[in-house]
Amino acid sequence: DWNMPDYIAEAVASIRAQVGDDEVILGLSGGVDSSVAAALIHRAIGDKLTCVFVDHGLLRLDEGKMVMDMFSKNLGVKVIQINAEDQFMGHLAGVTDPEAKRKIIGREFVEVFQVESAKLSNAKWLAQGTIYPDVIESAGKGKKGHTIKSHHNVGGLPDTLNLKLLEPLRELFKDEVRKLGVALGLPHGMVYRHPFPGPGLGVRILGEVKKEFADLLRRADAIFIEELRNTLVETAAGDGKLNWYDATSQAFAVFLPVKSVGVMGDGRTYEYVVALRAVQTLDFMTAQWAHLPHELLGKVSNRIINEVRGINRVVYDISGKPPATIEWE
Ligand code: XMP
Repeated sequence: DWNMPDYIAEAVASIRAQVGDDEVILGLSGGVDSSVAAALIHRAIGDKLTCVFVDHGLLRLDEGKMVMDMFSKNLGVKVIQINAEDQFMGHLAGVTDPEAKRKIIGREFVEVFQVESAKLSNAKWLAQGTIYPDVIESAGKGKKGHTIKSHHNVGGLPDTLNLKLLEPLRELFKDEVRKLGVALGLPHGMVYRHPFPGPGLGVRILGEVKKEFADLLRRADAIFIEELRNTLVETAAGDGKLNWYDATSQAFAVFLPVKSVGVMGDGRTYEYVVALRAVQTLDFMTAQWAHLPHELLGKVSNRIINEVRGINRVVYDISGKPPATIEWE
């Protein structure tokens, strides 16, 4: 009973009615929610929307290029890309505590966004990709009395921006947001991507974050994801159309800043470790480790060790949540 063309027409009319001739800014993260919000608002007000995409140097391989190609080139959305890698790496230097790292990344993100949005003097609205589960979750905050991890995402911008909030996805569930994204012309593969945390690779590099580690991790992670996408799940029916990427809820590589001894050719190596994490979950509150085929794990391990100089050992994480969390920090 949810008619997509009608829904889009109504949402577009409602955004136009809400913002009138005002300009809108939106923080694009490359994630599903902010991407769909951008596509929808662009449909409604075109060039009166400006997106700000902050590259903190903790994105996945080619992610910055992918976001710019998709929005700027394909959809014709106005996007300002900010390369803030040095700023983030500078503030993260020497910091090893996971919560301290999260706080720094969140704070610097707000800082960069504030500076950039101040340059867009006409903007009166801040658009966010808040979806219904976020609304519920933040309504419940404080009742539980503790947070396990301080969450950061593009939605967490402060009131000090003095902008009115535009949140066109507030009433939608994730699956509806995805269908909307496809209907608005976003590629299926983008809209059905696994979730990626706001602090990015910052929480997947254990301890101190360094550009050198991020570069190694990006390449290892890309190999893992590529193999998951290219390997079909063997089903009882044998009609295998489902690949392992779509068959898992979240999968990624984690960089362990620990060196171990290996051997390559005639030589001894002494290099870093990468852990692979893949989980099945419905709500991300609890999760099971994914029973990936051994052949797939073996192929990923071989490729990472052969192709990413600096990594000589790959391990697979077989911890459930609880007691482990999905991310390692
Ligand atoms: P944990 O590690 O707590 O993660 O089991 C549960 C889910 O939340 C994601 N996650 C985040 N998402 N900002 C986000 O937008 C964050 O700061 C953040 N930290 C964790 C994690 O990837 C998993 O899907």
